[in-house]
Amino acid sequence: MSTGHEKVEKNIGLMIILIIFMVSVGALVQIVPLFFMKTMTEPVEGLKPYSALELAGRDIYVREGCYVCHSQMIRPFRAETERYGHYSVAGEFVYDRPFQWGSKRTGPDLHRVGGRYSDDWHREHLRDPRSVVPESVMPGYPWMLTKDLDDPLIQKKMRTLKDVFGHPYTEEQINNASKALEGKKEVDALIAYLQNLGTTIKTRR
Ligand code: HEC
Repeated sequence: MSTGHEKVEKNIGLMIILIIFMVSVGALVQIVPLFFMKTMTEPVEGLKPYSALELAGRDIYVREGCYVCHSQMIRPFRAETERYGHYSVAGEFVYDRPFQWGSKRTGPDLHRVGGRYSDDWHREHLRDPRSVVPESVMPGYPWMLTKDLDDPLIQKKMRTLKDVFGHPYTEEQINNASKALEGKKEVDALIAYLQNLGTTIKTRR
């Protein structure tokens, strides 16, 4: 006697269709509610979009592949929060396109590195990591200290973030963006970005 179950097992086309159906239901149940959860879609209180200088620094972070060794995602475990501070929440990343969560930690997580060190420490550390952390395996980026910051598209980038994704930039911020980068070196932008990381939520450190 042929049961319904047997039919499905012997008909691979039918099986594929039913598997796709089942997986889709599972995915929808997981994904759809996220669009309606405020903690997932709304910025945490006080979060500001990146300034022109920070945005330029973020692009350098991406260009240099810092995310290959550093995550920006503190998980809600004691071992992590003791070391890095408050765990990361979704509302902190609404102005990150794309986010830099990463998954590889050759170096420490950087999500709450903002304010932990002085600008001078970062400058020295980026020039030659071993001069401040002797056992470090991080590469140095000495050219950043002398290379002029050159980001001719900064205004267009900010306008796109505003028009397409609704980042709340004012016209004044966009118009003054190029001026904000004048006379800066690449390292200045990168440090501005690092010093802002994870500072919206007050941490215990
Ligand atoms: C090859 C892996 C590697 C790459 C690439 C790398 N780092 Fe690191 N980073 C490390 C390691 C390992 C440490 C820990 C030792 C130290 O402080 O130098 C570290 C430490 C740091 C720290 C100090 C963090 C803390 O809490 O003490 C900062 C800030 C940092 N890196 C920023 C950067 C930036 C910005 C870039 C890209 C320009 C970058 N790193 C690229 C491996 C890397």
